[in-house]
Amino acid sequence: MTSSEFHDRLEANLQKLESRGQRRFAKTVHSQADGFCVINGRRLVNFGGNDYLNLAHEVGQQENVKAVFASQMGATASALVCGRSGWHHELEEAIARMEGAEAALLFPTGYAANLGVLGCLVESGDAVFSDRDNHASLIDAAKASSGKFYVYRRDRLAALSDAIARRRGDFDQVFIVTDGVFSMDGCIPDLHALCEIAQQHNCQLVVDEAHGTGVLGDHGRGACDFCNVEDRVLVRIGTMSKALGGIGGFAVADQQTIEWLRNSARTQFFSTALPPGICAAMLESVRVVESQPDRRHRLAQLTAFAHRRAEELKLKAVIAGVAPIVPILVNDDSQSVIVSQRMEAAGFFVPAIRPPTVPAGTARLRFSLTVKHSEEQIDASFCEVARILDAKF
Ligand SMILES: Cc1ncc(COP(=O)(O)O)c(C=O)c1O
Repeated sequence: MTSSEFHDRLEANLQKLESRGQRRFAKTVHSQADGFCVINGRRLVNFGGNDYLNLAHEVGQQENVKAVFASQMGATASALVCGRSGWHHELEEAIARMEGAEAALLFPTGYAANLGVLGCLVESGDAVFSDRDNHASLIDAAKASSGKFYVYRRDRLAALSDAIARRRGDFDQVFIVTDGVFSMDGCIPDLHALCEIAQQHNCQLVVDEAHGTGVLGDHGRGACDFCNVEDRVLVRIGTMSKALGGIGGFAVADQQTIEWLRNSARTQFFSTALPPGICAAMLESVRVVESQPDRRHRLAQLTAFAHRRAEELKLKAVIAGVAPIVPILVNDDSQSVIVSQRMEAAGFFVPAIRPPTVPAGTARLRFSLTVKHSEEQIDASFCEVARILDAKF
């Protein structure tokens, strides 16, 4: 294939995406501290970000955080060479404390945490059962691991149990991996049932708490905290890019598991450690989660209000989730983009979520709520989306 034929192939692929309403275009969004954003010079209510507690706009303002950034931007090396500063050490200790876990390990991102954790826990001779609706990073991690990959559905857990029972003897270890909060619909899996299945068949459970950290549970640790099953889960994985308002991933587990991850998770072993200033900022975020539960209580109020209004307006919210993610189903990919554009024209930024992020035929508008939103903004935006969906396309 010549270079020009190769570029023709790329162009054809892009055209295919475009004809299906699935092509993405880069956009520049200026996120603001008051729950708004500016796009093309227009101020819009921002329902697109995951800054649930508004910390992305707050923790960087602290003088001590600014000082760390000013004195050293990059970590200069991977954690095991010389990239792990006192800030990294303190943050790992603080995350372990916040999570009520024996130990924690930092990763460059949540994606890297998923890849690193499954990559070194799952060996050949093992199997991974992964929920169909898991985030792409958990699916990629399971597929890239050395184990045999199976998919299950969270609404068919009896089938999962049967499938594991049939094959359990074929594998040394079996892992069940699930999102704690499904990122495209805001609901949580039946973690009690998954724990029972894991116990019954002698499997290990791994939960990605990306959207639950800081948001759900008595301690703000996520879905496992919300369901009170933390002790029954081998590893909980989190990200600092959502409610904690920064960047970076982490895993929490018992000392020995973390020791093994530190020695073998390739995405932390072979990647430069997080900037020390990020660690200083994330320490502040952890302190907010621990000391200001009122933020997550407010978020829970807004979430309940949004679901109530969606129901009253007969909007097809996918499910009454507990996390601050409220999806409104449009189904058709191209129409979801049009609805999103009309919402933008009306003053609301609400992204259209299309395949491959969600299954075919389930394109949706995804409202992500933050503590900066108000009931009035939610009400006005839902009334607008109801009006748009009622009108002809
Ligand atoms: C469920 C889930 N897991 C993992 C990630 C990846 O986290 P990060 O953005 O820190 O790489 C995301 C974020 O997009 C997510 O939604």
